[in-house]
Amino acid sequence: MTDQTERQPISLRDINDDFSLVNTTTLSPDAEQTIRFFSGKQTPLEMHRVTTVKRLYLRDIDTRAACIDEAGNNTFLLDNRDVFLDMLTDSGVNAMSIFQQAAIQAADDAYAGSATFYRLQNALDYIFNKDFFLPAHQGRACEHILARCFVTPGSTVITNYHFTTTKAHILNCGGTVVETVPQTSLDPEFIAPFKGDMDLELLAAETARIGAENIAFVRIEAGTNLIGGQPVSLANMRAVSEFCHNNGLLLVFDASLLADNLYFIKTREAEAATMTVRDIALEIAKCMDIIYFSARKLGCARGGGIVTGNRQLFDLMKPMVPMFEGFLTYGGMSVREMEAMAIGILETCDFHVISQTALFVGALADLLSERGVPVVRPAGGLGCHIDAMRFVEHIPREQYRAGSLASAVFLVGGIRGMERGTLSEERNADGSDHLANMELLRLAIPRRVFTLSQLEFVADRVGWLFEHRELIGGIRFTEEPATLRFFLGRLEPVDDWQQKLVSAFKQDMPSSL
Ligand code: F0G
Repeated sequence: MTDQTERQPISLRDINDDFSLVNTTTLSPDAEQTIRFFSGKQTPLEMHRVTTVKRLYLRDIDTRAACIDEAGNNTFLLDNRDVFLDMLTDSGVNAMSIFQQAAIQAADDAYAGSATFYRLQNALDYIFNKDFFLPAHQGRACEHILARCFVTPGSTVITNYHFTTTKAHILNCGGTVVETVPQTSLDPEFIAPFKGDMDLELLAAETARIGAENIAFVRIEAGTNLIGGQPVSLANMRAVSEFCHNNGLLLVFDASLLADNLYFIKTREAEAATMTVRDIALEIAKCMDIIYFSARKLGCARGGGIVTGNRQLFDLMKPMVPMFEGFLTYGGMSVREMEAMAIGILETCDFHVISQTALFVGALADLLSERGVPVVRPAGGLGCHIDAMRFVEHIPREQYRAGSLASAVFLVGGIRGMERGTLSEERNADGSDHLANMELLRLAIPRRVFTLSQLEFVADRVGWLFEHRELIGGIRFTEEPATLRFFLGRLEPVDDWQQKLVSAFKQDMPSSL
């Protein structure tokens, strides 16, 4: 369905005619200047300097126990003042660059036709080369628009793997979701460079089974979140695109986690080694009919948007923006965030910017592996994913292994992770728990936020917990919302395991917080 026009992408100079913070000397598009340690040690090196900092506090373990109890054993419900290392998510909490901060000052506050909108549109054009842009207040708002426009009752969305909010919007419009990553991608120990790739044979078989006319769209998610931030290869995107276009299927790309995915394409896919980061982004965009993103991730700001090169698709989706988001040139976002986002999007073309998360995730995965802690391999983007299925294999699946581990990790270190397992699933129609394919505790690593010594602390505390893992017990709901229950649900330990864990901690570390 893509219009393969020969349209030339906008140049950085065109953007700078209007606004000039980021230029070719501030962006390093290649890995060529990679720094190597003489010792040969593989250490991620920060290519930035910290200029503004936030003071952190580590509460004592009794206070942490009271806090997690008050939060209903749900890390989403913790007060951030009680958290030492907030590894819940990278969403909206990546560090901004000085250019982003500066751009905020230049925001053009206008309800309609703000210059800020056009700067953001140009930045998106720079990496995606598509004519049309619809702003929306965040990623799930884009998903709402897409589901409303394309998902009808009984229709299906085929995807590499679902994301929680995406699936909720599809189900809400009466659709179903079919996943097409191979079974091996759900195995935390299986090593492959692109575990987010769709199985092309499965895609063809599912299309034949469902019938192209019943498929709302095909969705590729970059940096596949729920299977451990695993990337999709450019080759796979091209193959899926060809299949979709031969079969009259609409191809939608969730670019929220594109930055990490670009890094992995550049470093793991032979063809991409000689391409600039921007060229890779442009190649990806050529494959897609519609691209949407959470700018809480892509662009390191807060917001979202949808781009397309197809006027008909644009016209179909356009009325949804003033209806649900805001006027067409701000879509529910603050113009200040939009300015920061525009610069953040351009900085996504800088290899040293996009490499930071992946390198730190890799470093934490190595530190944990050294202590025997099971983690998803190969390390992906977004965060380090602990395999709770194995970490606490003695806990029954219905007592939420990853959720229990999330509570325990907060108890021992004031570290706030996110459950990505059965708790994050919707219940089956018969009311039973839908057991997730994977039980992961995600320790997110927001871009350019944490230091290596903080990661050492995480590895130390999680390593201690692993040695005392038999003390960790299950949790059960006391309040359970009907949809997206992981956000607001409250739970309690099934017995007194948390008190026992606190006692063991005090015994081993009597003089430490
Ligand atoms: N798609 C992906 C792949 C995401 O990871 C997210 C959000 C969204 C869509 C929705 O975007 O939050 O701006 O509405 N992921 C966050 C996370 C919540 O913590 O992984 P949003």
